[in-house]
Amino acid sequence: MYGNISIEKASQRKTMPDLAQNLGFGRHFTDHMFIMDYTEGRGWHDPRIVPYGPISHDPAAMIFHYGQAVFEGMKAFRTVSGEIALFRPEQNAKRLQRSSERLSIPTIDEAFVVEAIRTLVSLDKIWVPAKKGSSLYIRPFVIATEAMLGVRPSAQYSFIVIMSPVDAYYEEGLHPVNILVESYYARAVLGGTGNAKVAGNYAGSLKAQTLAKEHDCAQVLWLDAIEKKYLEEVGSMNVFFKIGGEVVTPSLSGSILDGITRSSIIHLLRNWGIPVTERKVSIDEIVQAHADGTLEEAYGTGTAAVVSPIGSLLWNGNRMEINGGQTGELVERLYLEITGIQEGTRPDQFGWLT
Ligand code: COI
Repeated sequence: MYGNISIEKASQRKTMPDLAQNLGFGRHFTDHMFIMDYTEGRGWHDPRIVPYGPISHDPAAMIFHYGQAVFEGMKAFRTVSGEIALFRPEQNAKRLQRSSERLSIPTIDEAFVVEAIRTLVSLDKIWVPAKKGSSLYIRPFVIATEAMLGVRPSAQYSFIVIMSPVDAYYEEGLHPVNILVESYYARAVLGGTGNAKVAGNYAGSLKAQTLAKEHDCAQVLWLDAIEKKYLEEVGSMNVFFKIGGEVVTPSLSGSILDGITRSSIIHLLRNWGIPVTERKVSIDEIVQAHADGTLEEAYGTGTAAVVSPIGSLLWNGNRMEINGGQTGELVERLYLEITGIQEGTRPDQFGWLT
């Protein structure tokens, strides 16, 4: 569609970290990367795999000035039978299109994005770790490369895919974290870019995250920007609560990212017959549920960590402990099911693996 993917193999492989040891998150990168360019009038062209390395751009490239950049996060797994699987990659490709659309970036065909990723993973497959919980994290991204300081959509872009072997986010199993309910800073507004995977969303979130650490909190729980009342996301993850036997998660109001782990979890819960509702959830409702003892569990969901239990919420100076600060039964069950499907120890009943 954009031409054949050419492959220039690295003349020398990198020194690989011991994939059975601590890899951390996003610290090591594989031997190759995928690049494809866009030029106005010509469209996307020159898809190629080249040795991983620095890229060079004009200091006036628009990415450096107006932040026209979108990205994705996904994983490849080495299953117990030795095969390499991607988890719902077409969903990431679709979201990359939606994010691009939001930033006036020309979209890339969904099937081609998956094909590019498959080709790259296949070439660097020795980098997919086998250790339980580990995976090859894949980071596709698009940046504006035209050298021009006028404020308008760039006429040139690069689509790049890099990959990094990573550990399970929580090596000693799930580990509940303290969360600060953020009352001043906002992550996103209706009509803004919160429902797209836009680089700037993450830059704008760092200040609140830094302040949260001063309160012994790992992250913030974001409230809506207008009323400062309704829950949006936790850190860079979607958020779920179990209240009185029912699971609730904020509906995709327009300022919340449509997480692939979020949608997988909703699907699983419905399949298990556990009631789950997508609706507005207010902080007052959470405070009330905590006070009357019906707040059973709370957790974030995302590609990187899969799920992340919330041990406590700090709101207006009061710390509300959830489930005694322990990992809840449901969040643990979800974690085991999703990671089980990914590592091939549980049936892939919904056809999520490619
Ligand atoms: C995720 O939970 O996967 C994220 O969005 C975090 C990622 C940006 C590292």
